[in-house]
Amino acid sequence: LRHLLTLEGLSREQLLQLLDRAQSIVDEGADRLLTATAVCTLFFEPSTRTRLSFQRAAQRLGADVLNFEAATSSATKGETARDTLKNIEAMGVRGFIVRHAQDGAVAALAEAANPGTALINAGDGRHAHPTQGLLDMLTLRQAKGDLGGLKVLIVGDVKHSRVARSDLHALRTLGAAEIRICAPASLLPEGEVTAGCRIGDDLDAALEGVDAVMMLRLQRERMEEGLVASLDDYHRDYGLTAARLRRTASDAVVMHPGPMNRGVEIDDDVADGPQSLILKQVANGVAVRMAVLEALLAP
Ligand code: CP
Repeated sequence: LRHLLTLEGLSREQLLQLLDRAQSIVDEGADRLLTATAVCTLFFEPSTRTRLSFQRAAQRLGADVLNFEAATSSATKGETARDTLKNIEAMGVRGFIVRHAQDGAVAALAEAANPGTALINAGDGRHAHPTQGLLDMLTLRQAKGDLGGLKVLIVGDVKHSRVARSDLHALRTLGAAEIRICAPASLLPEGEVTAGCRIGDDLDAALEGVDAVMMLRLQRERMEEGLVASLDDYHRDYGLTAARLRRTASDAVVMHPGPMNRGVEIDDDVADGPQSLILKQVANGVAVRMAVLEALLAP
């Protein structure tokens, strides 16, 4: 791999190699292989988990870490993302972790990069969030073992979710037994995104017998008016409550990529309850991102 832009098209072997390396980092740590390397978190959209866990991952590998935030940069004076990348690249930075609001923006920047530069997509529009997909798979695998026999349910705003798209690519490639999607029709994407999934709009029915429930945030910042009647209605129909969770397999796990809208798509007692892996996902994010940085940048 030269860049990591999407999980689409990666082979099962490539995914397993990254997951196995991340697991070995969780178990045994890692050498500081990037002490001679500078990386930059280049974020044109807000982030807490992804940006800080990439910073932590790069620091643990010994890299120098620069942090670019659009709101406090010359992007506010009209400098393009491409010029921003090329200028930071000219400072000797070899790795860029990029978040952008537009689908395809990170791939376009990768085209403009020098041959020795690696880009990692930290989320572009609705398109992809590959390291979130990887950390979700690592977390599921730790809890459930091989993904082959699992029934996984994804609930909520799939239409606007780059996380759902990356999870769907990974779950298919790793051979999940059944993928269910539950969402109102207004929040389902068009096209091939949900191919092969069992789709419904009745959350109680969709939860029956699943091994894992992946809740999604309502992405109100990407939403046209009227897609959801009201937050109360959404919670009534699609909110994961403790009572609803009893419909799953008794050892089912609950995941959410964050940030959560508590009381909208997920209740406090589920988010903070014994079946929740939400903070485990965050912890695994550091190891997954170390594995990705190593794969792209280590000598
Ligand atoms: N899961 C995720 O991408 O969170 P942030 O937006 O906080 O990075």
